[in-house]
Amino acid sequence: MKILLLGKGGQVGWELQRSLAPLGELVAVDFDSSDLCGDFTRPDAVADTVRQVAPQLIVNAAAHTAVDKAESEPDLVRTINATTPGVIAREAAKLGARLVHYSTDYVFDGSGAAPRDEQAQTSPLSVYGETKLEGEALIREARCAHFIFRTSWVYAARGGNFAKTMLRLARERERLTVIDDQIGAPTGADLLADVTAHAVRTAAAAAPGALDGTYNLVAGGETSWHGYATYVIDLARQLGEELKVSEIAPVPTSAFPTPAKRPHNSRLSTQKLQAAFGLVPPPWQVGVERLLVEILGR
Ligand SMILES: NC(=O)c1ccc[n+]([C@@H]2O[C@H](COP(=O)([O-])OP(=O)(O)OC[C@H]3O[C@@H](n4cnc5c(N)ncnc54)[C@H](OP(=O)(O)O)[C@@H]3O)[C@@H](O)[C@H]2O)c1
Repeated sequence: MKILLLGKGGQVGWELQRSLAPLGELVAVDFDSSDLCGDFTRPDAVADTVRQVAPQLIVNAAAHTAVDKAESEPDLVRTINATTPGVIAREAAKLGARLVHYSTDYVFDGSGAAPRDEQAQTSPLSVYGETKLEGEALIREARCAHFIFRTSWVYAARGGNFAKTMLRLARERERLTVIDDQIGAPTGADLLADVTAHAVRTAAAAAPGALDGTYNLVAGGETSWHGYATYVIDLARQLGEELKVSEIAPVPTSAFPTPAKRPHNSRLSTQKLQAAFGLVPPPWQVGVERLLVEILGR
């Protein structure tokens, strides 16, 4: 199988380079690749790339993910998160290729306290959420074989992440304040990449189209940013890290005003994913513990 991976340098893209490699011939590009255009601000050039590679599988890990910055550059964000994924989906339909794409809990307004399933009413609060939702719609409209995986609170060992920021602050300060009224599931880019590879293989063995569609894909359980930070700091201490912090104070979202509004309830039900692919996402703590062991070199 020939595979085109777009956005290879992001958190998820990096892990996909590993998980997709055994599935076939992998062509991986980034926004600044020199031979093939992977720059999502240029939809026509990315369409050319798809035609040139002529893959059976396209995995799109590229996105504009700077949620606050997105508020001030909506046209650019729309091109990257919606227009170009839509163009790729149309090329995929012409080629008979499968497209895997990632979306977000930010397509919801985060009201209530119940986990949302894939049918739940969408109502994004931000430019990022709106444009990700538009990208989903354009992919469905193109009628290519596809998976859209909605995920949340993504972290990876490579690059910056919340856990690393909390550890740095915990070394520097005695008191931290962390938001405790947004609830979700920290989800590893490695889990997303591994489930993607598994889903692609499962679909190849199933009847055409039988498994296509949108799936929530997050780690098991739930926590707040405060719970996440507390877990990271406690575990780092158990692993022998010397930290200055003595208090992690819970605060409401309103304590940290930001340009983009974020959902309070990011709980996503993974029942559909579990039933379709025979998988049970591990509790979020499992992946975060691996992350800490890796970044602390223990
Ligand atoms: N991160 C999260 O918490 C989160 C939560 C829910 C859903 N998701 C979704 O999961 C997917 C993967 O996200 P991620 O966490 O891996 O994000 P990421 O680390 O920000 O990766 C996105 C990649 O896209 C690249 N990119 C930015 N502008 C581009 C352009 N014009 N053309 C081509 N590539 C461009 C980024 O490059 P630069 O880094 O150089 O800008 C980066 O390599 C995305 O669809 C995202 O919407 C993420």
